[in-house]
Amino acid sequence: MINISDYEMRCGAFAKILIDKVGKKALKLFKSYNHPDLDGTGKEDEGETKVNDFRRKVFETELEAYHRVQSSSLLRKHTPAFYNQIQTGEIINGDTNVTEHYLSNCCFEIEFIDGNHVKIGELQSNATLLKHLEQQFGFNLKNLITEFHSKGIEYTKDSSIIYNANQFILIDFATIDCEKFRPIIESGSDDPYDGIRLD
Ligand SMILES: Nc1ncnc2c1ncn2[C@@H]1O[C@H](COP(=O)(O)OP(=O)(O)OP(=O)(O)O)[C@@H](O)[C@H]1O
Ligand SMILES: [Mg+2]
Repeated sequence: MINISDYEMRCGAFAKILIDKVGKKALKLFKSYNHPDLDGTGKEDEGETKVNDFRRKVFETELEAYHRVQSSSLLRKHTPAFYNQIQTGEIINGDTNVTEHYLSNCCFEIEFIDGNHVKIGELQSNATLLKHLEQQFGFNLKNLITEFHSKGIEYTKDSSIIYNANQFILIDFATIDCEKFRPIIESGSDDPYDGIRLD
């Protein structure tokens, strides 16, 4: 069982991040069709099945990316430690059962990183900060991105970076850019990946 009120929370478009600062852990918990955050996003046009299948697929491409990271010492150094997929079970928020707001078992646990946050695109266009961080941590961002790609982790362009005195860490990456398999409302097909090649 997960009680959301036991954690500090950060929010993304796909997931809630439940932070345990004492244990230095972060749970990335993926939202389902029923999450109130999706209200007003036009989800009804796609329907529950397509929305949830799409979001599950996003989770899978992120989970697979964390597995692939483990085979590279360079990538392990610049990503949060990965503590595995989590079987979610019942999810409550205080007294309220919110299990239906999340995709069951679409959750993984990673290291919580404290520090400054910057989107990768912002860093790439801030030459001064980039040079400073590359010198401080003795790495090259282009080479790091090449290493992600060489492991089949193609989607890093919307990643974020968290850095502190000791760490330069990329978060939010995936094997595939989810825009490539986002459901097409007009397709009329029940298969959200209809006509889309995932290789
Ligand atoms: N391991 C971590 N340590 C510290 N903060 C984190 C960690 N993972 C995520 N966060 C925080 O939570 C936010 C959302 O996480 P993340 O980007 O993984 O979610 P998302 O749903 O994929 O978001 P997006 O809408 O950007 O795609 C991040 O911007 C960051 O502030
Ligand atoms: Mg994301």
